[in-house]
Amino acid sequence: MKVSVIGAGNMGSGFVKQFAQAGHTVLVTAIDGEKAAAVAKAHGATAVDAKTAASADLIVLATAAGDAVTALQSLGDISGKTVIDITNPLTADYMGLTIGHSTSSAEEIVKAVPGIRLVKAFNTVFAQVLAGGAKLPSGEQVQVFVASDDAAAKASVTSVAADMGFKVVDAGGLKNARYLEAVAGFNIYLGYGAGLGTAIAPVWAGL
Ligand SMILES: NC(=O)c1ccc[n+]([C@@H]2O[C@H](COP(=O)([O-])OP(=O)(O)OC[C@H]3O[C@@H](n4cnc5c(N)ncnc54)[C@H](OP(=O)(O)O)[C@@H]3O)[C@@H](O)[C@H]2O)c1
Repeated sequence: MKVSVIGAGNMGSGFVKQFAQAGHTVLVTAIDGEKAAAVAKAHGATAVDAKTAASADLIVLATAAGDAVTALQSLGDISGKTVIDITNPLTADYMGLTIGHSTSSAEEIVKAVPGIRLVKAFNTVFAQVLAGGAKLPSGEQVQVFVASDDAAAKASVTSVAADMGFKVVDAGGLKNARYLEAVAGFNIYLGYGAGLGTAIAPVWAGL
């Protein structure tokens, strides 16, 4: 599959690594082309401009929540494309969410970029965990919670994530991104606020 990663930061570089290792053709784009080129070179991917990134079958949105809509719009018309939204709408100190309860980053993205097939996923996985792959240092399998109103897009993301070794948990419709973003917020509190570090991940017991 051809996958485009939008963003070459902590998460973007982890996705480029994991998708490339899984045998996908990976394109990466960022505002800073040199950064994208360095990430691409490290993992056998290709750095491209935004319009070229739109040619992929699957697009991973790995920007800050505040940059998400601008980044997607810079790709041009991506109606019908499956987009993975990993964003969390964090406050400046990372210790809270700027929206929630009645909406989510995912729902706001769909409102602003209608026509995309949006799937919330991977937003509860720390960049350090993603870079390490589907097993936590403790040996547990990393769980990826997947929420979408588009059954086919959800199935596609489920298949790709499962092929990479992750335990995929069907998290229902896109509205449940409100919960997933809050879970990510709690994970960030545990990792940074409580000082447990970023080699941790939320794992639902009994599945
Ligand atoms: N870090 C984590 O552990 C983690 C875990 C789960 C979810 N998330 C979520 O994942 C997202 C990314 O986090 P991160 O830590 O990877 O952030 P980051 O390191 O700051 O990376 C953000 C990337 O987005 C790029 N970008 C911004 N605007 C863009 C645009 N218009 N077009 C293309 N690229 C654009 C930036 O490009 P330039 O570098 O060129 O400016 C940068 O490469 C956030 O929404 C965060 O909440 C993060």
